[in-house]
Amino acid sequence: MRIYSAWSLFLEEKCYHFQDHFYRFVVSKTEMTINYSNTDKTFVQQKFSSITRFYDFLNSLLSLGIDHYWRWQTVKYLNDVNGLVLDLCAGTLPLSKALVRYTKFKGKIVALDFCQPMLLYGKKRWQDNALFFVCGDALSLPLKDKKIDAIMVAFGVRNFSDRLAGLKEMFRALKTGGKVIILEFSHPYLSFFKKLYFAYLKYLLPRIGSVISRDKQAYKYLAHSIQVFYQPQEWMNLMQKAGFKHIKHKYLTGGIVSIYEGFKD
Ligand SMILES: C[S@@+](CC[C@H](N)C(=O)[O-])C[C@H]1O[C@@H](n2cnc3c(N)ncnc32)[C@H](O)[C@@H]1O
Repeated sequence: MRIYSAWSLFLEEKCYHFQDHFYRFVVSKTEMTINYSNTDKTFVQQKFSSITRFYDFLNSLLSLGIDHYWRWQTVKYLNDVNGLVLDLCAGTLPLSKALVRYTKFKGKIVALDFCQPMLLYGKKRWQDNALFFVCGDALSLPLKDKKIDAIMVAFGVRNFSDRLAGLKEMFRALKTGGKVIILEFSHPYLSFFKKLYFAYLKYLLPRIGSVISRDKQAYKYLAHSIQVFYQPQEWMNLMQKAGFKHIKHKYLTGGIVSIYEGFKD
């Protein structure tokens, strides 16, 4: 197994906490408050902090459990990767978990999120020797250039205040030859299904979300962000603009979500 020295990976000035002698960032309960001047970031952070306890349950409920299948399909793209994988916008760690469980992955995972409660919640429920935890911003990654073999992101990029900047950061952190796999919501390609799905997003999802999490705004935001997010061709154009090559796209579940693959040549 390859061992990674933390100091060779991370940009010191952007590292919020370094605790362990053994190459690991540990998110402790008392650490940092990050000050963001950007209100979008603050809003997103606050929303995810407020729904943290209900996040996994509501994901499964609102998707009728299909979200597990989506993540399984996503990590399959990383079957051949055994180096250092960045789980960007890792949240409560479901994608890292899927990578460890459903593939023969033997490398290390850097699980990064700017919402500390989400990471802590995930860390309390599941730990694995493969994991490093980093509390940081995807738009300004605390990582040196070209250190990461692959990046995976599930339902994260939609929340970026600057999507192109986020993609460029991923590109910068990737090694030459590295790949990025992005799982994100898209719109159903059959018009009848799309109407039905949009009605669900408008009327049902925010109600169920708010009853359970007691945060009406968070699930309204979710529904809205899905409706206005880039569609596959636009998103692939943006990936290309950030520098990615050999970009591919695949719809799942009638187009409710999409998986994107791109490479750094
Ligand atoms: C919908 S959750 C996805 C969590 C997980 N990847 C999953 O598969 O369920 C989105 C996560 O992205 C994080 N996030 C959004 N913008 C971010 C940014 N700029 N930097 C770091 N994390 C971010 C949020 O804090 C949240 O935990």
